[in-house]
Amino acid sequence: MDRLMEIAAEHDLAVIEDCAHAHGQRWRDRGAGCIGDFGSFSHQSSKILTSGEGGSLLTNDETLARRAHSIVDCGRAKDPDEKEYTFGANYRLSELNAALLEVAMRRFPDQQEARAAAGKRFEQLVADIPGVAVMPADERITRWSFYNYVLRIDPQAFAGRPNEIVCQAMEAEGIPAEVQYPPMNRYELFQPSLSRLPVAVEHADRLDPMHMSFPVAEAAGLRESVYFMENVFRDGERGVRDAADALARVQANAAALPEI
Ligand SMILES: Cc1ncc(COP(=O)(O)O)c(C=O)c1O
Repeated sequence: MDRLMEIAAEHDLAVIEDCAHAHGQRWRDRGAGCIGDFGSFSHQSSKILTSGEGGSLLTNDETLARRAHSIVDCGRAKDPDEKEYTFGANYRLSELNAALLEVAMRRFPDQQEARAAAGKRFEQLVADIPGVAVMPADERITRWSFYNYVLRIDPQAFAGRPNEIVCQAMEAEGIPAEVQYPPMNRYELFQPSLSRLPVAVEHADRLDPMHMSFPVAEAAGLRESVYFMENVFRDGERGVRDAADALARVQANAAALPEI
């Protein structure tokens, strides 16, 4: 964020922080969502601060707040004496969802603290499992919060099995774990041949991300990253101990797992 804000200042750009997963996190004592011009959080059903569905936007700028309010509310002006905006749709969070969120926000600080403690404990418990690396702590993160917990495995220490097989084994052990995201160049979304831009169409074969090499992202997405789902960290010592024990068993018995 520090570097992005510098670049934005240099070029007079607005920054919208996509902090969908970063509820409660603080970067150099500033809350996620409060660094850019807008912060955007997800409160969809699987998130750690949920209203069932929906999201929230933060801004410190009154004009932007009014404009966002208008876009969310079919383009209507926030106050009757304001000029109306013409573009907008119904992106309103219902009052029922907002009521759930208000209660969830009151509970959140305690939950966040307990999760962070469980996350740190999990890191201690997995530290000695061969081929497992946790995310290094960054001292600029002044309050650590996380959603799903991602760690890295070295497939060599897992008898050559990649993350997908390890996650299946973890699920079989009763621990929710997933590969989650493929490297972005594998998303079907990026198809230059379907673009309406002439350069993209003309050079579709050269611009197709599927044919490009992104070794770090591909290693992470296709072989190394294992996400522990957020509910593992809702049960204090017991939850993280179960998860760490299961990972140790999977590692020790990896040679018996199916190959991909
Ligand atoms: C980084 C990021 N941004 C945005 C979203 C979308 O959030 P929502 O489902 O509330 O629209 C997600 C979903 O989890 C996400 O991971």
